[in-house]
Amino acid sequence: MQVIEISHPLKDHYLTIIRDKETDFENFREYSSKLSYLLFIEGTKNISTKVKSIETPLTSIDGLEIENENVAIAVLRAGLGLVDGVKNLLPSTSFGYIGVQRNEETATPEYYYENLPNLENKNVFILEPMLATGGSLSFAIDKVKEHNPKSIIALTVISAPEGIERLKKEHSDITLVTAKIDEKLNENWYIVPGLGDMGDRLFGTT
Ligand code: URA
Repeated sequence: MQVIEISHPLKDHYLTIIRDKETDFENFREYSSKLSYLLFIEGTKNISTKVKSIETPLTSIDGLEIENENVAIAVLRAGLGLVDGVKNLLPSTSFGYIGVQRNEETATPEYYYENLPNLENKNVFILEPMLATGGSLSFAIDKVKEHNPKSIIALTVISAPEGIERLKKEHSDITLVTAKIDEKLNENWYIVPGLGDMGDRLFGTT
């Protein structure tokens, strides 16, 4: 599994804002959205382009355009916080949604919703901001693999080493792009230092 941790001062700046417990949900949302641009830029580095012949006002050239074969899947609900970067940087991307919530007592994923576009032979970007135990993301990847995608790229804001290890074992063929690899999980399976509950902080719930 290829693991890419973004290295950029803007990433550090945005991440510090959303980690701060004093940040209100409007700013939390705003800076999560900004991080989604950095994640998607990194995640799309190797997607394929094709030649498009165009005329500039001065001459003809062979330009490049991205092939229309990209799908993003937001894992509900925290994954919605990463939609902006994808839809604004590459508006031709189709979107799907997978609802998985973790059982707070056992940390096991519980599946409750799925709405997916055609994934066959597509680059599939899975938006799951917090990679904790890896249960939800691994489950979402299993679902996506049933549809024969071309590639799978998971975009996460914070990843715990425990979740990365799990993905390496269960899905060694994917790419993981993360803003930050944190220290560990605590006894309640929250990432430390982390940022708390991403869904609650994005949507102003507790
Ligand atoms: N999900 C979150 O929102 N936060 C964590 O720390 C772990 C899982």
